[in-house]
Amino acid sequence: MLILGIETTCDETGVALVEDGRRIIVNRVASQIPLHERFGGVVPEIASRAHVEVITRELEGALAQAGYPADAYPPPVEGIAVSSRPGLVGSLLVGVTAAKSLSWAWDVPLIGVDHVDAHIYSAVMMAENENTGTLREEAEAFPAISMVVSGGHTSLYSSRGWTEHELLGSTTDDAVGEAFDKAAAILGLGYPGGPEISRVAESGDPNAVKFKKSLMDSKSLDFSFSGIKTAVLYHVKGQNARRGAPILPDVCIPDVAASFEETVVSVLIEKLQRAMSREGIRRAIVGGGVAANKRLRRRLREFADEKGYEILYPPPELCTDNGAMIAGLGYWLLRSGNRDDLALDVDPVSAR
Ligand code: KG4
Ligand code: ZN
Repeated sequence: MLILGIETTCDETGVALVEDGRRIIVNRVASQIPLHERFGGVVPEIASRAHVEVITRELEGALAQAGYPADAYPPPVEGIAVSSRPGLVGSLLVGVTAAKSLSWAWDVPLIGVDHVDAHIYSAVMMAENENTGTLREEAEAFPAISMVVSGGHTSLYSSRGWTEHELLGSTTDDAVGEAFDKAAAILGLGYPGGPEISRVAESGDPNAVKFKKSLMDSKSLDFSFSGIKTAVLYHVKGQNARRGAPILPDVCIPDVAASFEETVVSVLIEKLQRAMSREGIRRAIVGGGVAANKRLRRRLREFADEKGYEILYPPPELCTDNGAMIAGLGYWLLRSGNRDDLALDVDPVSAR
């Protein structure tokens, strides 16, 4: 069953074709990074305009890549899945409008997908550390503790099914990807900051700077990342310095980047461990842009080996926003009888 997946929640226009929820035929992602780079973050109006500009090209391009040029429409697509929540409202509207139009024109079922659920699904869809070659059924993937770590989310869930995620804890201030982006800006590194910090950190000493791990109280499953961002600022620019101040001459950027990354990754692992032992669940699923982080992936592997846990996370290219995870989850939703009609609306905030 071939599903077309459309993703426009934030600053990537993703279009994918996925067979039976797992086999990726095409996965195109048009990034808007160059447009937002000089602002140091995503500008919503620019994002939605850019989606409008490229969505038709990306749809046609993905379908042509799969062997379905425009003069052979309708393509043999049996469902159109689109991320309809949560995200930037203007950006969401572009993807949802495109999906509705195609659903109507080709008379194909429409299915609205939750973007956060899809990040979780991406780890089961293509777990890098798994070579079974077959897709797990829902009962073989759950129960699990899910951790979504991205630019917009840092959340832990007790998961019982593809869309059954009970929130256990989440960030009380910045999302973890946001912390990477802000720390990178303080260090004078490029945007988005996650991959930049990661690259620079490779030559640094992760124990050089002792940043405080913010664990909240001893039982909490919530996160806080605003403190470490300020600690990085004061460490590199001086106590009570402003963001625009120059970096002190004796600062070793790779050491600071590596120490920041080490501290943040330790917090994520510790909270995941807390959630798993509290819920008595031995399987974890980790998704979202920050799951592409090499140090986090290494620590997850070590943690799983040490405890005998099963931890699933996607290959790096499926961690950041993409249409394949939307098409993949859309397949299961459709198969289990879910579908939307043209009244499908966008929802900027998630229901949970
Ligand atoms: O999942 P995603 O593409 O978008 C949201 O749903 O938010 O995540 C983007 C976030 C950005 O904050 C980016 O800096 C971060 O993921 N990120 C990384 C890495 N690659 C992307 N953070 C740390 N290490 C990376 N390698
Ligand atoms: Zn995302």
